[in-house]
Amino acid sequence: MQPDVSPTHASTILGETRDGELHLQLDEIYSPTGSPWAVPAYRFDVMVGDERAGTISLRVGDNERLVRFAGHVGFGIDEAFRGNRLAGRAVRLLLPLARSHCLQPLWLGCNPENAASIRVMEWLGATYVETVDLPSDYDRYFARGERQKRRYCLEYA
Ligand SMILES: CC(C)(COP(=O)(O)OP(=O)(O)OC[C@H]1O[C@@H](n2cnc3c(N)ncnc32)[C@H](O)[C@@H]1OP(=O)(O)O)[C@@H](O)C(=O)NCCC(=O)NCCS
Repeated sequence: MQPDVSPTHASTILGETRDGELHLQLDEIYSPTGSPWAVPAYRFDVMVGDERAGTISLRVGDNERLVRFAGHVGFGIDEAFRGNRLAGRAVRLLLPLARSHCLQPLWLGCNPENAASIRVMEWLGATYVETVDLPSDYDRYFARGERQKRRYCLEYA
């Protein structure tokens, strides 16, 4: 049986995991009903020392929309902190938690025009699988003018 998505589980798995000054601080847990992906999810602040540099989320599920479009992980780094590969490094910090929820492989998605994100996927060693059209009823992305997603698959130990 998979562990619950809970603060206790996150802290048990991640503990004091750090990459230099970089670490993840749990900000919020989404229940499946409150989650835009219809699955439970963690959202962490990406912290550099005491400063919040961005956010990263881990969506715990394997429904089609996650696997084909949104991906298991979402991230954003504030402009002032970009240029230090924080997004890729934060994904790496999340991998033990992803593993604990049996998210193997990890699916990642990004927009075709998002060159920085594509570099993050490459830096992580994720494999590009295909570019897919978003369904027109996919409100969350379609309404923002997004039309396609590049799909990446990350196998990790
Ligand atoms: C994508 C994002 C998280 C990356 O932030 P970051 O971890 O600070 O990334 P970096 O600035 O260190 O750049 C990572 C790589 O992309 C490259 N890159 C950055 N901006 C780029 C651009 N506009 N065009 C091409 N390459 C770019 C960098 O040179 C670096 O390449 P390297 O690994 O070969 O050195 C950040 O740009 C962001 O928050 N964007 C807005 C939100 C977003 O797009 N989220 C992702 C949704 S999938």
